[in-house]
Amino acid sequence: MEIVFDKVTKNYGPINVFRDLDLKIKAGDFIFVTGPSGSGKSTLIKMILNQVKPSSGHVIIDGQKLSEIKDKREIDRIRKKTGVIFQDFQLINDLTIEENIALALDIVGYPADKISSRINEVVKLVKLQHRYFLFPSQLSGGELQRASLARALSVEPEVILADEPTGNLDPTNAWNLIKILQEINEKFKTTIVMTTHNMDFIESLDKKVIKLDK
Ligand SMILES: Nc1ncnc2c1ncn2[C@@H]1O[C@H](COP(=O)(O)OP(=O)(O)O)[C@@H](O)[C@H]1O
Ligand SMILES: [Mg+2]
Repeated sequence: MEIVFDKVTKNYGPINVFRDLDLKIKAGDFIFVTGPSGSGKSTLIKMILNQVKPSSGHVIIDGQKLSEIKDKREIDRIRKKTGVIFQDFQLINDLTIEENIALALDIVGYPADKISSRINEVVKLVKLQHRYFLFPSQLSGGELQRASLARALSVEPEVILADEPTGNLDPTNAWNLIKILQEINEKFKTTIVMTTHNMDFIESLDKKVIKLDK
């Protein structure tokens, strides 16, 4: 999936977050977005998700301006190509990991007879094949984030948007997550856009970096 920001300005009332931002994220890129708290990292992710609209300018996904799409089904189609993970995992606590993933697959209309084999594949990808029958409360932070990634991956997205996914993880678990994201990027050419303020990742890995400041 190609993501383009064309002269994007974003204001929240009197607060200006972006002014004339031009940006191109190519299919298959692995990109870090960094910058201090309040610099607009989450706003950038939310604009790709069409949850926050630019004040002016355009976010263009695979050549289509989001603001010009009128058909809700078209928005849904783009949304299905996009997996998201957050700092706080956002799993449903009274469903097992397996059920959390099954629900995500069901919502996008994944063929019912393929759901169970798809769950098996993704839990292996994130190394949770021995834990997927448990509830979120029974997993560690690192496992929860991998479960959340499994759910995002299950629908075979073209892009994974990860907003501070390591924010609640210790360094070992954070690095495990980054390694899995790298594997997915290399194996499936999934585009990865990850926000972080951890300079260790950025300095140790040779990835493209978008630095936000005031
Ligand atoms: N819904 C909102 N309403 C008003 N201001 C907001 C809203 N969301 C974010 N902001 C402001 O926009 C700026 C960027 O926020 P955000 O994108 O969350 O930054 P980051 O993720 O880098 O911490 C901050 O000054 C924040 O207070
Ligand atoms: Mg944020």
